[in-house]
Amino acid sequence: MRNTIIAPSILAADFANLQRDIEMVNSSQADWFHLDVMDGVFVPNISFGMPIIKSIAAHAKKPLDVHLMIIDPDRYIKTFADLGANILTVHYEACTHLHRILQAIKTEDMQAGVAINPHTNVSLLEDTIQDIDLVCMMSVNPGFGGQSFIENTYKKIKQLRQIIESNGASTKIEIDGGVTNKNAKQLVEAGADVLVAGSYVFGASNPMETIQDLKKLVQA
Ligand code: DX5
Ligand code: ZN
Repeated sequence: MRNTIIAPSILAADFANLQRDIEMVNSSQADWFHLDVMDGVFVPNISFGMPIIKSIAAHAKKPLDVHLMIIDPDRYIKTFADLGANILTVHYEACTHLHRILQAIKTEDMQAGVAINPHTNVSLLEDTIQDIDLVCMMSVNPGFGGQSFIENTYKKIKQLRQIIESNGASTKIEIDGGVTNKNAKQLVEAGADVLVAGSYVFGASNPMETIQDLKKLVQA
């Protein structure tokens, strides 16, 4: 089986103990930090922005996977590059000129990600798939942690995997929302490469062990 990437979502961390939680992820078997930026316009919630990402970047020893749930993301591409983002993901639904934005992200030496809402058909990515490093497939409606996983996601993963393969692309599929030990293995079997987990990790009594269990589960 491929090496599945585990990306804990910092949205569910304890912001009063952020350095502690960052160090926990550093010493765990997690692969990336998943950082959710929400503007209160694209999604009905506001999370955190530049100053927090700057503080996280100062301590994080693993790649920063930044998920922008904001309108007009093109305005901030250079800003996030300067902050230390390694992967920058914009929402398909928020981009009029998606192709141009993907190029701009790559010009800043970041990997380019596209997130799709649960209602967005994967076929809409067919014409840009060669330019996308990561598809962040939302398995909940974006805006909040701790929601229930949407079962239709499995079907979408399989469809997207087919589009990636038939175009000879090397795009990774990331699943974001409601990931737990109950669905992790099935998601990887359907074709997922990256699993984001927020409340499942940080809500656990032992987050580090939970990450280890998740990693073991998807590698078995
Ligand atoms: C939702 C965010 C997710 C969220 C996942 O809008 O994009 O990354 O933090 O949280 P859980 O794992 O709790 O569903
Ligand atoms: Zn996210």
